[in-house]
Amino acid sequence: MTEAVRDIPLSRPWLDEREEELVLEVLRSGRLSLGPWIERFEEEVAKRVGAPYAAALSSGTAGLHLLCRIAGLGPGDEVITSPLSFVASANCFILEGATPVFADVDPRTLNLDPAAVEAAVTGRTRAIVAVDMFGLPCELDALRAIAERHGLTLIEDACESIGAEYRGRPLGSHGPAAVFAFYPNKQMATGEGGVVTTHSEEEWQLLRSLRNQGRSYDGGGWFNHVRLGLNYRWTDVQAAIGLAQLEKLDRILELRAEAASRYEALLADVDGVTAPTAGDEERRRSWFVYVVELDPSVDRAAVMDGLRAEGIATAEYVPCIHLQPYMRERFGFAEGLCPVAEGIASRTMALPFFTQIEVADQSRVVDVLGNALAAGV
Ligand SMILES: Cc1ncc(COP(=O)(O)O)c(C=O)c1O
Repeated sequence: MTEAVRDIPLSRPWLDEREEELVLEVLRSGRLSLGPWIERFEEEVAKRVGAPYAAALSSGTAGLHLLCRIAGLGPGDEVITSPLSFVASANCFILEGATPVFADVDPRTLNLDPAAVEAAVTGRTRAIVAVDMFGLPCELDALRAIAERHGLTLIEDACESIGAEYRGRPLGSHGPAAVFAFYPNKQMATGEGGVVTTHSEEEWQLLRSLRNQGRSYDGGGWFNHVRLGLNYRWTDVQAAIGLAQLEKLDRILELRAEAASRYEALLADVDGVTAPTAGDEERRRSWFVYVVELDPSVDRAAVMDGLRAEGIATAEYVPCIHLQPYMRERFGFAEGLCPVAEGIASRTMALPFFTQIEVADQSRVVDVLGNALAAGV
């Protein structure tokens, strides 16, 4: 009889007594929404990322959407974004009626290639949604220069990247409004939630109004709606979890970086797989997921089946946005539009990765992966 081994999940948040303690305080306070915890969180997160203002919302998608609304994007406008991202990077402006234009990525960083972005600019282009993919900062300065040259709004989708640094400073501190997200697989987890950090007081006030049904904060009472808004409010319970997570963010980032280094060392002896980079002299990754690239000759589906058969979770990370069924149907996108991104998306897969992943589990993941690769699948 073989010894039972436990399943290893893809991700898991690190929650402990501190989250319990703060959530309990909120519950006992009776203020579940629009209470003081959200403002406290906003102040702390703004400080942490080096931005003067922060507005917390119900999700990262909500933050991206409101930035597109504030930018005035609409029908007839084109917005350039990355095909190698989560659908929200494009949905945020499609919801406003704008048209997606996908520029290809740099195979080294998996982020938008500035030359491809420049080539995609037309007379209709109004904005760029730049993604910091898998926690690695994008070419922010080059993209900002393109945006300035053509008079475009630059929105930074940093949903996967809290704590990452570009040119020695944290994402969020560089100028463009940045959106961070807190779904449970993220570095900081609150269940659901997101925050926009901005350097513009006007933008911040608009975000606060738009997330709360277009209300005015300048008097006029609760039912004084001065613009069309949405309910993208966060809750104080989530803010309390967020505060506890922020308190230990440095430790979270450190433990994840250590786990990534361990994987890198273990994978060095395995043929057929390339480990992700921790960054370079300009970028420090905030480790979100651990996505490896298989050699083109490898049968990825068979390798993934091999891992799953041993109770090890894995996922294709990530399929290209423009090849999703709704994108093909609505915009007629097809294979060949972004060959670099498509090639990468066909070869990459995520390994189990989270703050408290155990050394022994990482060894087992790499052993099973190595065996699957050696079997020539
Ligand atoms: C790159 C990227 N953009 C946007 C989002 C949207 O965040 P949320 O799930 O909080 O709406 C995510 C989160 O999954 C993401 O990974």
